[in-house]
Amino acid sequence: MFGKKKNTPQIDPEQLELIESAQKRIKQKKRLYIHFVIFLIGSLFFILANLTLGIGEQVKFFDINWFVFAILAWLFILIYHVFYVFITHKFMGANWEKLQLDKLVAQQQQRIDKLKEQFVKEETLIAQSAAYNEVKKTHKRNRGLTIIVAAAENDAIGKDNQLIWHLSDDLKRFKTLTNGHHIIMGRKTFESFPKPLPNRTHIVISRQENYTVPDGVIVVNSLTDAIEASKSDSQAYIIGGGEIYKQALLVADKIELTRVHHNFEADTFFPKIDNTMWKTTHNTFHDKDENHAYPFSFITYKRL
Ligand SMILES: NC(=O)c1ccc[n+]([C@@H]2O[C@H](COP(=O)([O-])OP(=O)(O)OC[C@H]3O[C@@H](n4cnc5c(N)ncnc54)[C@H](OP(=O)(O)O)[C@@H]3O)[C@@H](O)[C@H]2O)c1
Repeated sequence: MFGKKKNTPQIDPEQLELIESAQKRIKQKKRLYIHFVIFLIGSLFFILANLTLGIGEQVKFFDINWFVFAILAWLFILIYHVFYVFITHKFMGANWEKLQLDKLVAQQQQRIDKLKEQFVKEETLIAQSAAYNEVKKTHKRNRGLTIIVAAAENDAIGKDNQLIWHLSDDLKRFKTLTNGHHIIMGRKTFESFPKPLPNRTHIVISRQENYTVPDGVIVVNSLTDAIEASKSDSQAYIIGGGEIYKQALLVADKIELTRVHHNFEADTFFPKIDNTMWKTTHNTFHDKDENHAYPFSFITYKRL
């Protein structure tokens, strides 16, 4: 049980294939050489059999002894063998060459796919940065546009226009962070509240021209207008839902994420956070307890 672990030699399969092909080639040449030697001995035997032992003395074609034809016929077979080894199966054989060519083409294809993938990623990053800089320029905002969201391990955030879980510490954190600030949300998220939250300025995004809201709630027709409307606030929050988060990820500079460590069935999801665009600056884990049915972590991301 505690004996020395036996070392199994690892041979690269490509090297093995190369060795096997080389061995096959050596065998082919060896067989040709043996054929040549047998041909010489056979020819000598035919000559001796005919001229010395008198075998088939009478058998002649066009007045030429039979052994000449026998040797010529064998010579033809030997030439065919030489042709087979050195011309048809030159180097490592046609099949081997084709296999190597196919492998090379597959490797090149893989490299091209990788480069393409990298190119698309870089293009996306450039486009995202350009969009972000454009919004910053247009709204002359200082850094202070934060996404606040609670998302499950599978990025689920809502179902049937409702939150899926109830985590009291998460709600407390939401209240503390957003208290006194502008909160930007999609029309559906706004409608999921029983009434507007106290001590916050609500900005609701809708494409509807005559969308009616209680007094004090601001309605705008785009995220850009929502950011414009929150300009006076040095720390505005984007509070959802799925459609708005997707657009806001391009322009926000911070994400306050509550990651709920569980998978849920949902109809609304938070987009994947791209680690090349965002870095974690804070991460606190909370285990489940009598007030919290699931463990969760408060994670802060800042745009790179
Ligand atoms: N877990 C969390 O932290 C969290 C937070 C918030 C919400 N949620 C959940 O998310 C779900 C709601 O999200 P959702 O994606 O369905 O809806 P949503 O993002 O809240 O609202 C979508 C609506 O916003 C308006 N809208 C979106 N983009 C617009 C644009 N570019 N210009 C103008 N208007 C625009 C449209 O309103 P009109 O149709 O009126 O034009 C659209 O129907 C709910 O289940 C909610 O509970 C979860």
